[in-house]
Amino acid sequence: MTYKVLRWTAARVVMVAVAASATVNSTFPHDITSRCLLQKVTLNTREPIRCALHCQNTPGCSLYCLQDLVCTLYNAMVTQAWNGKTLLTGIPFQRCFASSHDPRDIALSIANSSSSSTFNSDRNSQQMYNGYTCFFVDYCFMTINTVEPYWKGDLGVPYQVSTIKILTRQDANTKHFFQDVTVRLGNSSDYFSNPIFAFYAGPAPLKALVTLVSPSPAFGRYLLIQSGVSDFFCMCSIQIFK
Ligand SMILES: *[C@@H]1O[C@H](CO)[C@@H](O)[C@H](O)[C@H]1NC(C)=O
Ligand SMILES: *[C@@H]1O[C@H](CO)[C@@H](O)[C@H](O)[C@H]1NC(C)=O
Repeated sequence: MTYKVLRWTAARVVMVAVAASATVNSTFPHDITSRCLLQKVTLNTREPIRCALHCQNTPGCSLYCLQDLVCTLYNAMVTQAWNGKTLLTGIPFQRCFASSHDPRDIALSIANSSSSSTFNSDRNSQQMYNGYTCFFVDYCFMTINTVEPYWKGDLGVPYQVSTIKILTRQDANTKHFFQDVTVRLGNSSDYFSNPIFAFYAGPAPLKALVTLVSPSPAFGRYLLIQSGVSDFFCMCSIQIFK
């Protein structure tokens, strides 16, 4: 939490608690408006804190954007590394902030990633840490329908990890898309030989935020997430905590 003094009038000084929020790339695809818009408010100041307060007081708000005096609130999970790169005709704002970012999340350390396959280039393995999740599955990671598909991430150096949170698919029946999932973390670049971090039987329900906790904190550099079934494998974002 950060505390800021907000002056509404010279006579009235109010102390408010604003959840930590991070600046993110401010270009988003058009579907963010049709699918994830919560509210548009016209402010009488350009101070982002006023928009932050509206977001904080609006259930489901996880992204707020400013364009002149207009504050727009969205229910959309934006990764820390989101760069809007795959957008052809996106909506640009002057500034956007994600209120869902946790400064303890080390997913930004992921140096590179790969996967057993990718459904298409919009749904590549990087979307797990540089994509965003509104509703539609684009900007999520997804494989083709195959046997025990997997995702691999390299944290660059070994980290102690206790908890991993994965946001699953939001827009369709996820019956086998996240099921019998094994997570491994260790120091061997042969990802499949590292110790098991956690197992999730599932299947994950639609729009799940799956939390995987290791019985004892694990320490490692190479992270493997593998489905135990034959199907598409889909994950929209990952958060990694010490
Ligand atoms: C990341 O790159 C390094 C060096 O090229 C490679 O050894 C490693 O296997 C890669 N990791 C993934 C997940 O692709
Ligand atoms: C990985 O290496 C670190 C030291 O760099 C060590 O503390 C840790 O136990 C190793 N992890 C495994 C699973 O062997």
